[in-house]
Amino acid sequence: MLSKKLNKIWYGGDYNPEQWDEEVWKEDNRLFKLAGIDLASVNIFAWALIQPNETTYDFTSLDQTIDRLYQDGIYVCLATSTAAHPAWMAKRYPDIRRVDFEGRKRKFGGRHNSCPNSPTYLKYASQLAGKLAERYKDHPAVLAWHVSNEYSGYCYCDHCEKAFRVWLKKKYARIEHLNQAWNTAFWGHTFYDWDEIVVPNGLSEEWENGNNTNFQGISLDYRRFQSDSLLETFKLERDQIKKHTPDIPVTTNLMGLYPELDYFKWGKEMDVVSWDNYPQIDTPVSKTAMTHELMRGLRNGQPFMLMEQTPSQQNWQAYNALKRPGVMRLWSYQAIAHGADTVQFFQLRRSRGATEKYHGAVIEHVGHEHTRVFNEVKQLGEELQLLGDQIIDSRTNAKVAIVFDYENRWAIQLSSGPSVALDYEEEVHKYYRAFYDRNVPVDMIGVDADLSQYDLVIAPVLYMMKAGHADRLKAFVKQGGTFVTTFFSGIVDENDLVTLGGYPGELRELVGIWAEEIDALEPSIKNQIVFNEDYGHLSGEYQCSTLFDLIHAEHAEVLASYGKDFYQGMPVLTKNKFGQGTAYYVASSPEQDFITDFVATLMTENKLTPLLDSDQGVEVAVREKEGKRYLFVLNHNHTEAKFYLPETSYRNLIKGNEYHGESRIAGHDVLILVEK
Ligand code: GLA
Ligand code: ZN
Repeated sequence: MLSKKLNKIWYGGDYNPEQWDEEVWKEDNRLFKLAGIDLASVNIFAWALIQPNETTYDFTSLDQTIDRLYQDGIYVCLATSTAAHPAWMAKRYPDIRRVDFEGRKRKFGGRHNSCPNSPTYLKYASQLAGKLAERYKDHPAVLAWHVSNEYSGYCYCDHCEKAFRVWLKKKYARIEHLNQAWNTAFWGHTFYDWDEIVVPNGLSEEWENGNNTNFQGISLDYRRFQSDSLLETFKLERDQIKKHTPDIPVTTNLMGLYPELDYFKWGKEMDVVSWDNYPQIDTPVSKTAMTHELMRGLRNGQPFMLMEQTPSQQNWQAYNALKRPGVMRLWSYQAIAHGADTVQFFQLRRSRGATEKYHGAVIEHVGHEHTRVFNEVKQLGEELQLLGDQIIDSRTNAKVAIVFDYENRWAIQLSSGPSVALDYEEEVHKYYRAFYDRNVPVDMIGVDADLSQYDLVIAPVLYMMKAGHADRLKAFVKQGGTFVTTFFSGIVDENDLVTLGGYPGELRELVGIWAEEIDALEPSIKNQIVFNEDYGHLSGEYQCSTLFDLIHAEHAEVLASYGKDFYQGMPVLTKNKFGQGTAYYVASSPEQDFITDFVATLMTENKLTPLLDSDQGVEVAVREKEGKRYLFVLNHNHTEAKFYLPETSYRNLIKGNEYHGESRIAGHDVLILVEK
């Protein structure tokens, strides 16, 4: 449970009263109450206001904001404001400003703009966090701490360069180890002294904004180092806060599939994960669901906070579509269905000027409550009040896990060959989607997750094998688990050094095959996955593309082979018995139909059944608590659809009505069903 003080799904969002005056504040409270809002995230971008100069801290307006909200029963998620530094600080202390990828020193401007290794930033950010915690430690309004905001971006300044060398020394101890790890004998890059190492950017080893590098070793380490550096700044603030309020949860808002940070490392340092969900109008709903699972996976299934979503429109996309009527409610429940214990918006009141004035808000520019968006927010507020504490802190308990690794994604991006078309995220999503379409719960897990609770583990394109991972996977299969991996897996270690002796390296014994070559063709060129004999739900031919491993079966059984080209007849799907379990290898990137039928086969073999059968576009997810199963039925179609319950009776927690057997759900509607 997040807090005993407010034992329900928290409802609210980012609130920036510093952009408004007293008249508006009064109206804000009235409208918040009307909408059922009980939580405001405040002080997110107010550093310049609180600290007007070197020595002055002025909390007057923040005091007033928090008191004013609390008088009306509205709690706060209190931010530390350190995501954008004051202009005076940037002027007086140039070290706080970042140096960009091209090596240019930034001027003041923007946000998420501080160098994480700047002595000025470290000093003043931790000081501010400490002062805030000290001041508000006993304020009954404070439910959670929101450190900084959407940590992002890398810096390439001299402070970072020095700190990078220190980080490297700690990791490698001796320069020879580093030379080995980075394979610096290539192009004569041998280092004799730590000081010879410079940051990898547009001036040294990388190009195209860091999408390409000459040396994967240094580039991977720099990403780890920058992710760690930002994480250290988070920890610094967190520790200041913890000194004063050890029991109030501390979080920072993450961004799902955002590429620059290794969120599995970050999740371990937070009391609760929170994240900002901004799908586009055409983002597959399965992709959003997958991202929720990923955020839930960062702390092993613990519920998370939905820190931000827009009530309607965004402003930073090319075309900022309105959320259609009912969609905000639907997507809010989708987040809850996958583990959110809060529903929060960016933003509560739409700002008047600057870059986010066309971003959706609970209170729009017209200023009153008679709007479509406000009414939808209000309706959801009423529903969440009625739900009370029933759902919160419940778990998913999936039997299927899909591995996702942010560092693996870096490594694939930077690999330089075999194909620019390989999209790690999409390969993972294809597998996820097949389970999603069948209403089978899935956990998204990192490489160090405990596998004992799963029947089936799938690791698409596990290019980078981290130390110990292959052994854990082998132990899992030995004890009876089913494992699936694909082409371009097991190729390199953590330093992007190839594991010699045949691909897929450390996974070779487990999958019982070896790959001799990897063909890469322009993605419109297809090969076929041909089944001479049916295997489960798989039969006939399927298309595959992009990468084609040319594999030899060692111990594995061949289930399907390539349909053409000079490797026609070579295996493309294999199955290996290993201990009590089974390991499959998919040697190319298949079309979705193959994965759908393959997943159906895996489900039969592992006795996995859908939560419910439903029409297309009707999502079913589950959360469980104290012996109760809450089935979420979400209709992503505009029109009515069907789903099929057992004959026993179920009650819909939202409206109180009952369902059994063949049932109907209106377009965009949501039900939370519990067996009577
Ligand atoms: C992010 C930020 C917010 C705001 C929204 C707009 O999530 O955290 O401050 O800029 O985007 O979508
Ligand atoms: Zn820097």
